[in-house]
Amino acid sequence: MTKSFALHEKSRDLARILDISHAMIEKTDLSSLLSLIMEQATKTMHADRSTLYLVDRERNELVSFIAQQSEIKEIRLPLGTGIAGYVAKHDKTVNVEDAYKNPLFNKETDTQTGYRTVTILCAPMRNHDGKIIGVLQVLNKKSGLFTEYDEWLFNTYAGYAAIAIENARLHEEREKTFLSAIKTLAAAIDRRDPITAGHSERVARLAVELGSAIGLSISELRMLNYAAILHDVGKIGIRDTVLLKPGRFTPEERSEMNKHALFTKEILEEIYFSKEYKSIPTVAAMHHEKLSGAGYPFGLKAEQLNVFGRILAIADIFDALVSHDRPYRKAMALADALNILWDEVKENNIDPHLVSIFIDKKVYLRAFPDIERPDYHHEG
Ligand SMILES: [Fe+2]
Ligand SMILES: [Fe+2]
Repeated sequence: MTKSFALHEKSRDLARILDISHAMIEKTDLSSLLSLIMEQATKTMHADRSTLYLVDRERNELVSFIAQQSEIKEIRLPLGTGIAGYVAKHDKTVNVEDAYKNPLFNKETDTQTGYRTVTILCAPMRNHDGKIIGVLQVLNKKSGLFTEYDEWLFNTYAGYAAIAIENARLHEEREKTFLSAIKTLAAAIDRRDPITAGHSERVARLAVELGSAIGLSISELRMLNYAAILHDVGKIGIRDTVLLKPGRFTPEERSEMNKHALFTKEILEEIYFSKEYKSIPTVAAMHHEKLSGAGYPFGLKAEQLNVFGRILAIADIFDALVSHDRPYRKAMALADALNILWDEVKENNIDPHLVSIFIDKKVYLRAFPDIERPDYHHEG
């Protein structure tokens, strides 16, 4: 190998790793990140297979994710056993020429997976505090042995992978905190009116099911979920005498009640949302808009209503119909509720395409598995 060829190869490898690390940082969902790390480790290192182990400090174990075809299999090892355990414990990269001749090698994994390991390159993954969070290994280089250069390259790769994993974990933590905060808020508002308790969460379930039935992406579904949970937050601005009124509203009371959709938008606009959630206030406030333009708060027309707002409108109407929502009105039977959705379509209020998917695919059943039972009613 000439000097310039080697240099060319190295710069190509580095460019590749930088590209991958960029893709890694973009992935905020841990399981798809782990798949990406393993898939690209195999390719970058010209190996046959890769394994990623994460340290489970509570149980003192390494948890491994083995990519086999498109499936990911989980295997647990006590910390300190096998080559990966050694790497995790001693914070050292290990390069093995023949696994079966290495006393550290644990044949158990091969036995479990029916695989034959020969060469192994195994590197620790450290977070920014230098703490080992896992181990990454590639198995069976396509030709020859793993070189010293491979060790260096793989260490660099494992370093980027560790940062991306930490990043995704932080992101998941933040999401969980955020989700529980908004659920608490929505539940507190629903509970002001005992009859509508649980409404926001049920609307969210329906909306997410309908969204996944039409193939929205994971991040779109997440945004929709939040918007749905928060859609009636504006009710906090409605006086008890109106919100809790038994019996029908006067026109004045009706128009006061209708203000909640605008309040939802105003309240949510006070919250800082990151880029992917920026449209939450607008979407949440669309749930009473109609395709004809006769809805509120803005009287938006069909072309101004995005798919998220259209989904919320259907979920909101459906939940109100099948809920026992006012003392003077009983919860409706499923078939009647579905007929009313069609009436709403005929009046150009809600999206016909979404309603037909909602009904044909029985989306309501995925949100409420017991809803076809004749005695069904929502748990409050
Ligand atoms: Fe509402
Ligand atoms: Fe609602």
